[in-house]
Amino acid sequence: MTKDTTMTNAPLLRGLFLNALSRPVIVRQTDQPATLELGADLLSVDAQTLKDVELPVVVSTGEETYEVIATKRGEREISGRVALVTGGAQGFGAEIAKGLVEQGCFVYIADLNAEGALAKSKELGSETTHPITVNVADEESVAAMSEEIERITGGIDLVVSNAGIVRAGSVLEQDASAFRLSTDINYVAFFLVTKHLGGVLSRQHATSGAWLTDIIQINSKSGLVGSNKNAAYAGSKFGGIGLVQSFALELVEHGVKVNAICPGNFYDGPLWSDPERGLFVQYLKSGKVPGAKTVADVKEFYEAKVPMRRGASGIDVLRAIYYIVEQAYETGQALPVTGGQVMMN
Ligand SMILES: NC(=O)c1ccc[n+]([C@@H]2O[C@H](COP(=O)([O-])OP(=O)(O)OC[C@H]3O[C@@H](n4cnc5c(N)ncnc54)[C@H](O)[C@@H]3O)[C@@H](O)[C@H]2O)c1
Repeated sequence: MTKDTTMTNAPLLRGLFLNALSRPVIVRQTDQPATLELGADLLSVDAQTLKDVELPVVVSTGEETYEVIATKRGEREISGRVALVTGGAQGFGAEIAKGLVEQGCFVYIADLNAEGALAKSKELGSETTHPITVNVADEESVAAMSEEIERITGGIDLVVSNAGIVRAGSVLEQDASAFRLSTDINYVAFFLVTKHLGGVLSRQHATSGAWLTDIIQINSKSGLVGSNKNAAYAGSKFGGIGLVQSFALELVEHGVKVNAICPGNFYDGPLWSDPERGLFVQYLKSGKVPGAKTVADVKEFYEAKVPMRRGASGIDVLRAIYYIVEQAYETGQALPVTGGQVMMN
């Protein structure tokens, strides 16, 4: 790993407390006087010497001083974790952020839509969320997000790479620019997010021992089967599964599990149901569904493709997230959540 001058001791300190207390914590810089001095070399500290420390506590390490705080917790294993949701301002991302906050997580809501991220953070509670403006397809922006996270909570437990776009179109007609944009946001961005947040997770792991963390890509059923006149999307999502498997193989030594969730269509979300720009309206106007006269006809046509006769919802995806985080013996998987529309073989 290359040493960056912006790196702090916070992930190592957080790792020590994760290891000692087997619970998530928030580590943030403070001007308060330290009551615990750990020295500058945190790699040489035995975590077990911290197992009876009561939180909150103010700790100094070299020139840096941090307050270590307990997050609120409920019953689930996922409870209290520090999580990032990219594309958290609306759609699946907003549902995931809401569900995680309800489970007692501290959630970064990161989105290109700054106003949307701020509004969602206020709605879900400023104490347990933090908005970040980011373009996940831009490396500088992702690096800045990663530094902001390190500054505010010292580290992280769960990264949900959810931001994505659809640019549907025939391979015979689609502009290369639309194809590239889709590839940048759905595929390259997952690499960038894993590179920078994976860096924080692996530094934290240097002192956190058996504490497992997660990177989850919100993929799609279109990452498992082809999608007609939608190759830019399906290709980027298929590629995402290759990244998931490869990152999983590499990051396992840093205690990071990497998995994908492949949901079916979220018909009630804005991507499909927005009254002006949603796919239902677009498909009605373009005559994609033969004989459809209303948005309801188009919706019925798509729901009929699903054995369970409905689209995916936020809670369906959240349950998959809970499973992946709580499961300590699985990595590199692509988990379909499709009401039976896509079955693995
Ligand atoms: N909606 C579906 O039917 C469906 C089905 C399967 C999988 N998915 C996947 O779920 C994820 C979320 O989809 P959705 O339907 O909620 O989408 P959405 O369009 O409702 O929301 C996507 C969010 O991502 C943000 N975003 C877009 N580009 C960004 C960028 N470059 N940087 C940061 N943020 C950015 C947008 O501002 C928006 O808030 C995507 O990865 C998508 O492929 C969606």
